[in-house]
Amino acid sequence: MNPIKVGLLGIGTVGGGTYTVLKRNQEEITRRAGRGIIVSMIADRDLERARSFADSSVIVTDNAQDIVTHPDIDIIVELIGGTTIAKDLILTAIAQGKHVVTANKALLANHGTEIFAAARDKGVMVAFEAAVAGGIPIIKSLRESLTANRIEWIAGIINGTANFILSEMREKSLPFAPVLDQAQKLGYAEADPAYDIEGIDAAHKITIMSAIAFGIPVQFDKAYIEGITKLTQEDISYAEELGYRIKLLGITRRVETGIELRVHPALIPARRLIANVEGVMNAVVVKGDAVGATLYYGAGAGAEPTASSVIADLVDVTRMQTADPMHRVPTLSFQPDLLSDTPVLPMEAVETACYLRLQVIDKPGVLAEITRVLADFNISISAMIQKETGGEGDTVNIIMLTHKTLEKNTNAAIAKIESLPVVSGKVTRIRIEELNG
Ligand code: NDP
Ligand code: HSE
Repeated sequence: MNPIKVGLLGIGTVGGGTYTVLKRNQEEITRRAGRGIIVSMIADRDLERARSFADSSVIVTDNAQDIVTHPDIDIIVELIGGTTIAKDLILTAIAQGKHVVTANKALLANHGTEIFAAARDKGVMVAFEAAVAGGIPIIKSLRESLTANRIEWIAGIINGTANFILSEMREKSLPFAPVLDQAQKLGYAEADPAYDIEGIDAAHKITIMSAIAFGIPVQFDKAYIEGITKLTQEDISYAEELGYRIKLLGITRRVETGIELRVHPALIPARRLIANVEGVMNAVVVKGDAVGATLYYGAGAGAEPTASSVIADLVDVTRMQTADPMHRVPTLSFQPDLLSDTPVLPMEAVETACYLRLQVIDKPGVLAEITRVLADFNISISAMIQKETGGEGDTVNIIMLTHKTLEKNTNAAIAKIESLPVVSGKVTRIRIEELNG
């Protein structure tokens, strides 16, 4: 059988890794796919870079449109990123009857519904294993391996850059900025690194997983998002002292009233496996009613780990392209006409325990005032730290851990505490996730 022909859009970090691994492991990949898979066209704005990778038989262009409309191309691999040009290119490719493989979580989280519908209409596949957690085969696990289960929740460290920064801050006490710089140099960060550190990239990924886990449309606009930029070295140290690690988590959970969808830093008990996931590594815990908690671990970013997922999709598409579209694995795991309208809950309706750090004046009655406010909002304290100060009148940190409380009540209590004259500045709140199933 003739090899399947791939048009590669973008030969940067992931595109470069994909080309290299596909070439290096060609013989084994062919034996697995049952047919050769060759890149026959590459588009990149940087023609010199593209030529430095491409074999002489490969057509190189700086016009990606030429590839998505080319009659010889069977599969488009979109690795340019972004939500505008990439969207046009993918929709054009689909309209031309081509299958698509992409690592573009921003695009799918925002426009997945439109793209998946277009693909369904044309009977082509859109595969996106690389879009979530880099090299970890989490999409396939959720979509195919856990289909017996009613998924209860998913919690994941799903941004390699943010995890790399938090690890370096904790282990080496390094400041934020130079570590982010290093993550960018290593090719982990998004084109706009604000996506990594503000939690947006993790929110794209948890939105996609939530849709697959619960059979709902992708609804990025409903996600609650908080990044790691406000975390300080002292919060990381206090958390450590209390037996926790701070991680940026993507969480989606089915509760009675709907579905939680959120990204924020969280204290996780240090004894949990996931609390010990460091550097660019990612980990996702999926709790199913039948299987219990399962953990998926691996490199969350970088050229070859991400290429591993891109190529797995290429093999899948190659194997499946002759199958009747009705009998292929559904894109979001559930049959498209059987998606549910279970609402995604506003953050105020979510219940979590919290770590609170307050700066107060060390004088009689302060603690009583604060605990009074917490009691008024039905918030119960589970642990507390106050270090000795130089003397009365000094400013001191008080750290409190609360039991689980409705977010709405915690917000109101924080606002009230911040208005007390004995409290200076903002209260730092980091949610706690026990992740104990
Ligand atoms: P890079 O910036 O390294 O590569 C993108 C390449 O595409 C660059 O060479 C860029 O050229 C080129 N390009 C951009 N726009 C166009 C265009 N219109 N026409 C032709 N070429 C274009 O990005 P990554 O490889 O890091 O990321 C690619 C995708 O993979 C993104 O969606 C990202 O979110 C996703 N991803 C990345 C991971 C990673 O570890 N890096 C992991 C998982 C997913 P130029 O540089 O000149 O703009
Ligand atoms: N910027 C992303 C990260 C790339 O750091 O996790 C992988 O999706």
